[in-house]
Amino acid sequence: MRIVTSPSEMLRMVKEARLRGESVGLVPTMGFFHAGHLSLMRAAREENDFVVVSLFVNPTQFGPQEDFRDYPRDLARDAQKAAEAGVDCIFHPRVEDMYPQPYLTYVVVEGVTEGLCGASRPGHFRGVATVVAKLFHIIPAHRAYFGLKDAQQVMVIRRLVEDLNFDIEVVACPTVREEDGLAMSSRNIYLEEEERRAATVLYRSLCLAEDMAARGERDASKVTAAMRELMASEPLVEPEYVEAVDWGMLKPVKRLQGEVLIAVAARVGKARLIDNLILDLRDEGGGR
Ligand code: PAF
Repeated sequence: MRIVTSPSEMLRMVKEARLRGESVGLVPTMGFFHAGHLSLMRAAREENDFVVVSLFVNPTQFGPQEDFRDYPRDLARDAQKAAEAGVDCIFHPRVEDMYPQPYLTYVVVEGVTEGLCGASRPGHFRGVATVVAKLFHIIPAHRAYFGLKDAQQVMVIRRLVEDLNFDIEVVACPTVREEDGLAMSSRNIYLEEEERRAATVLYRSLCLAEDMAARGERDASKVTAAMRELMASEPLVEPEYVEAVDWGMLKPVKRLQGEVLIAVAARVGKARLIDNLILDLRDEGGGR
């Protein structure tokens, strides 16, 4: 497995692979790999001839008070895991190569970025859309793989691809969880022991929503209120949002119908955690 740092060298390698007739899969990441990342790499390995993992902690998607400097990094460990997953190449550029100064061009996806995480992280999705657009140019892949734990990000990238005519298939892969349900995240490393236990309430609140929906509850506010009540039972968990939105434009819904994203975000100690569930109620006739 090769580690490439230069964007022009990376582009040349991908063009050569395409000229050989190979299909190319891209897994964009910020590194510190866990089982969630590895599942994306395995999916990319199964479906493509040439697999590139980008590993870049992207400064433009972090707010000034956020954890850009502290974000966990371990290239040697990541390279070993990626090699074991059968990845052909890691693209690991320097910040100054991705954002040469002066850097003046950004990509803004509207409509699906203002709510949920966008409300408390202004500029976050501008940074994500910008770096992903750049990665799609540097690594013109046939398919790109993203985890549904970041469901809003998946929707932002789907819009980006559609609206800017990128010739790339966005493959959304299921959230990978610890045995007790906690969604895998590089930021779980920030959790102290008691916080780690309390953090499972995010998943438990989503299970409660799923149960209520299965039992026929269709009033979104009753479901989110019950989730909030459950989350309040864990004093170490400070909820940021608990919302039911349509899985399309990500606007709040009153009734559970069609495809609904139930999404939660909370602070647990130093960590900001997110999790979600997509309810598919389209067979009830309320779909888009
Ligand atoms: O999900 C992530 O790790 C990042 O937001 C991404 C898509 C790699 C862009 O920096």
